[in-house]
Amino acid sequence: MKTKAITGKFYEANVDAIAIAVFKDEQPTSGYLKELDKLTDGLVASVFKTEKFSGEEGETVFLRIIPKGKLKASRILLIGVGEKEEYKTPNVAFLAGTAARFLRSKNISSFVLVPRLENGQTVDIAANAVQGVITGLFELDKYKTTNDKKGKIETLAVAIEGADEKEMEKGFERGKIIGDSINFTRDLANEPPNILTPTEMAKRAQEMAKEVGLECEILDEADMRKLGMGSLLSVAAGSEQPPKLIILKYKPKKSTARKGEMLAFVGKGITFDTGGISLKPSEGMEAMKYDMTGGGTVLGIMRAVALLKPSVPVLGVVAATENMPSGKATRPSDVVRAMNGKTIEILNTDAEGRLILADAIAYAEKQGATHIVDLATLTGAVIIALGNINTGIMGNDQDFVNQIIECGKETGEKYWQLPIGKEYSKMIKSDIADVKNIGPARKAGTIIGAVFIQEFVDKAKWAHLDIAGTAWADEPSPHQAKGPTGVCIKSLLRLVEKFENSAKK
Ligand code: BES
Ligand code: ZN
Ligand code: ZN
Repeated sequence: MKTKAITGKFYEANVDAIAIAVFKDEQPTSGYLKELDKLTDGLVASVFKTEKFSGEEGETVFLRIIPKGKLKASRILLIGVGEKEEYKTPNVAFLAGTAARFLRSKNISSFVLVPRLENGQTVDIAANAVQGVITGLFELDKYKTTNDKKGKIETLAVAIEGADEKEMEKGFERGKIIGDSINFTRDLANEPPNILTPTEMAKRAQEMAKEVGLECEILDEADMRKLGMGSLLSVAAGSEQPPKLIILKYKPKKSTARKGEMLAFVGKGITFDTGGISLKPSEGMEAMKYDMTGGGTVLGIMRAVALLKPSVPVLGVVAATENMPSGKATRPSDVVRAMNGKTIEILNTDAEGRLILADAIAYAEKQGATHIVDLATLTGAVIIALGNINTGIMGNDQDFVNQIIECGKETGEKYWQLPIGKEYSKMIKSDIADVKNIGPARKAGTIIGAVFIQEFVDKAKWAHLDIAGTAWADEPSPHQAKGPTGVCIKSLLRLVEKFENSAKK
């Protein structure tokens, strides 16, 4: 896709269509809409009346017009963006995605996006525009051989009147990196588990690392045994597929990090979760191919980090394994020892995410991580609590948690904090080992997952993101296909940036 910066009048762009933001209850009596109304001899105003278009978020009206004078396009797409006061830079990605999906369905291959934000955040607006189009066009059709081919957007122009063209170009580049990285993660999450085995996931990580210039190391079963990762190995025990620990390292040319500080992302990479001996019911089990999304997200983040080149080091660790039942599988009541020496009584083999994260996090800390964010589709309970809207966040350092929540606000991703604390930690005390991997039935399931993981964090500041609800969209939305969402990548890239900025101070 080609990108073009339009810093003059939006309607002079040489494209097939204009896609323009419209605020809630706005009338075409001034500014951009008035200009557009004039150029179309009152068509825009008449549509507002007859179609009862009110600018609700995601609402669209499509017009065919006869180009004349300076107006080059022959189609106009009005896109509602909701209340003007609530319309901020990250909303541009939703606007762009909605435009791209709609116009592609009308076989249009070039358009100009008119975000109508005058907040001076040119780089970010341009980045969100390009990212929104790239992620908006993602589809689940990789394995389809029939010819219901969708159209193709070949040219995207973005119009910000009076903006600096260099800044826009910089934003375009950033948006492409972030959009492609989000889709990289979504592609992994969407892969069927017979194709994306732990070995294949490791191979894709290696290929990606080579392409973007990251250090990559893959630990196999023997390495894990040497390191004492009995918890991770207990999950892999039932599977024919060997587990892999994927380690990615980004090292800046010149680090400005505060002495000794290192940020790490650690992901749950269960390529399929049957529940193991604590077998899940068959209904809906197919959804568990996405149980590696935490890990896939770490790979997407690391890809983007390598290309955006921040001045701080970043570590990525993904524990990849299947959770299968078999004669070699772990039994409920087995006791295992994790890398940090703690013993775990496994009472439910379906609570496996926390078991693999225990060793992956201990490993990250041993590698020097001082700030750890783990991502996991950890509990069904978080879906009951927060639905598909908010990612559950918990952690051992309130400032660090706040920072991530703030990053979410700045990038359009919602987080909701749940409490942790010693009352909850007591609930995982085992009769015969240090801890057990579940708490009392149906009580605080998401929190119990977090306090279990906390047992394997030593000195690091740590935040746990339960993405079970937000990582997958059951329905398509105007800006995005159904399926894997790539959630958290944008906010965590912002976290890397914050790290960079605070380190420079
Ligand atoms: N991968 C699941 C979490 C999950 C469940 C995500 C349903 C999406 C929908 C996880 O490994 C799991 O099975 N968790 C159990 C924990 C329980 C046994 C304490 C759960 O949530 O039921
Ligand atoms: Zn499970
Ligand atoms: Zn799981």
